[in-house]
Formats: sequence, structure tokens, C-alpha cells
Amino acid sequence: MAFIDKIKERAKADKKTIVLPESMDKRTYEAAETILKEGIANLVIIGTPEEIAKNGAGFDLTGCKFVDPFTDPNRQKYIDKFVELRAKKGLTPEQAEEQMTKDYMYYACLMCKCGDADGAVSGACHSTGNTIRPALQLLKTKPGIHSVSGFFLMEVPNCEFGEQIDGNGLFVFADCAVNTDFDSEKLAEIAYLSANSFRQFVGAEPKVAMLSYSSKGSAKHDDVTKVAEAVKIAHEQHPEIQLDGELQLDAAIVPSVGASKAPGSSVAGQANVLVFPSLEAGNIGYKLVQRLAKAGAYGPVLQGLSMPVNDLSRGCFADDIVGVVAMTAVQAQNA
Ligand code: ACO
Repeated sequence: MAFIDKIKERAKADKKTIVLPESMDKRTYEAAETILKEGIANLVIIGTPEEIAKNGAGFDLTGCKFVDPFTDPNRQKYIDKFVELRAKKGLTPEQAEEQMTKDYMYYACLMCKCGDADGAVSGACHSTGNTIRPALQLLKTKPGIHSVSGFFLMEVPNCEFGEQIDGNGLFVFADCAVNTDFDSEKLAEIAYLSANSFRQFVGAEPKVAMLSYSSKGSAKHDDVTKVAEAVKIAHEQHPEIQLDGELQLDAAIVPSVGASKAPGSSVAGQANVLVFPSLEAGNIGYKLVQRLAKAGAYGPVLQGLSMPVNDLSRGCFADDIVGVVAMTAVQAQNA
């Protein structure tokens, strides 16, 4: 069974309520029809009756809850919560009302915050920044976590590297989506969150490689030191995680190269979680593997948020939305 089908089965076993704020996009309804028919999640679509009639015509949406942000009886509750959460920024009730009716992602995050939904998925027709910002502002990070990051679950077909499942190699790649500046502390936190995400979604023990263009001091540069420092911090803060670095990509995943470049390492040559040293490396890296190796790339899945909210690619198909909703529901089961 493909990775994503297993995730759908897990979502069905304990159904969660996921909000879809992109009522202006037909793919939302196509995905919703499948999600409802297969019983993957309970759904809420945010939109006016006109938007829903125009874009959702022809889809069977039996069981879906529709929330009109202009007439919803809970609207005042969400305005009050929005003002409370952004009090330090001086947000007025009028500004809150305007923002959450102009940008339904704010409405979706407020529903989550108020306990009326378990998670949200958006991004089919909004940029990553516009999808993530409301979640960062309103839901914030989990206790003890400083930064939200984004990972991809990569399923590489017929691959002898990574976690071996049904002949495929499974990996978590991070951060591929969110942070534009990394220091050693942030990298160490990304490693910790990614190890947890791997355990949650793959159900196996994570082996985390902190990637660089150097292996164990083979090159000297501030960029290399940054990763080596991150390894030290991660070892101090999370000694239970199998983690090593700095490692080049081949030393991280190819056993013979790992043995020669990092002898004695319990991770080198066997890594299944790859932590990239910059957003450029992570974002380009996942797309290379997706395109050249025809890998399944599930994500970006956000980690570190207090409640699950996930982003879609604007080039996504309805099936991708179904997959991301299933992953969000599984995150909500463990929130
Ligand atoms: N973790 C937690 N909170 C954060 C983070 C983070 N990583 N980044 C920002 N925040 C918080 C800030 O503290 C701030 O909180 P406050 O308003 O309560 O003070 C709030 O989020 C907004 O922060 P800003 O810095 O003002 O927001 P900005 O819009 O500049 O940036 C964003 C946040 C959207 C995540 C930005 O870093 C970004 O655009 N990242 C890159 C996204 C991207 O383009 N990725 C590549 C494409 S994705 C793909 O290819 C699949």
C-alpha cells in the first residue's frame, strides 16, 4: 500500500474536522467530494452561498458543513478572539472583522483556535507566505518550540536508501518551506521536530543527518561550523535522538561512503531524516528528488505549530489536497 493510502486509513480510524477556506477554487470541492465519500475527515468549507453555488456546482458535498463568514452565528466569538490574540499589535474589532472576511485563512485559524475545528488546509490559490502567516500569528508554536518549519515526506520509488518500505525509500526532508534564515539553534530545533515527524508518519526510528558540503570537518567555513554547532546543540538537548553531522549527502545515505567519511557513526550511510543547512538547499533538494527520481513529495507539512495547518502547492491537483487533508488529520490525532 502506498504511503499516502496508509495515512488515509489512519485518518479514517479517528475522524477529525478540517477547515478548507478556499471556496473560490473548484479543486477544493473536487477534493471535498472524495474526502467525504471515503470518510477521511469531517469538512468545513468557508464561503458565501454565492461562492459555494458558483464553484461547488456539480459536486456531491453531502455531510460538508458550510460557514458563511458574513452571517455565521459564531462570527462575534471569532472577532473577540482575534482582538484578544492581537491585542499587543493594537488590532481593533473593525480591523479584525475586515481581515477575517477578506482572507478566509484567518477565519479558518480562528475556528481552530476556538475549538470548532481540528486543523486547516489552504494554499491551492494562495502563496505559502499568505497561507502560513495567519497560522503563525494566531495559532503560534507548541510550548517550548521557537520556530515553525516545513518538511516533505519523500517516497522514492525502487530506492535502496532511506527507510525501506515496500521497496521504496522513505525520508523526511526539512526545512524545505518556511525559515529564510537559519542559525545553529534553529537547525537543531528543526532536527528535533523532523525526527518526531518521521516517527509520527513513518512509524520507524529516525536517523537524522545534518547536511553540509563537508563531512566531519573535511572543509572549513562558517557555514560548516554552523551545522557542526547545531549537531552539538541537538546532542545536548535531545540525546535520545540518533543524529550526526555535519555530513555530505552521500555520506548520509550511502553505507559505503558513510563508512569511509564518518567511520563509527550510527547515522552515516543510514539516514532517513535529512536536515538541510538552508531553505535554498531544502527547497531545491526536494524538487530535484521529486522530478528526477519521480518521488512522491508529500508536503510541505508544517511542524511546531500548536495546531495543524498545512499548505498546498498552487499547482496541486485535487488528489494532493486529499492527501494533505489526511496528513493534517493524522497530525490532529496526535496534537
Ligand atoms: N515560526 C514561528 N513564528 C514565526 C516564524 C516561524 N518560522 N516566522 C515568522 N513567525 C511569526 C513572527 O514572529 C510574527 O509573529 P507576530 O506577528 O505575532 O509578531 C508572525 O509570524 C509574522 O512574522 P513576519 O516575519 O512579519 O511574517 P512574514 O510575513 O515576513 O514571514 C513567512 C513569515 C511567511 C513564513 C516567511 O518567512 C516566508 O515567506 N517564508 C518563505 C516561504 C516560502 O516562500 N517558501 C518557499 C515556497 S514553499 C514550496 O516550494 C513548497
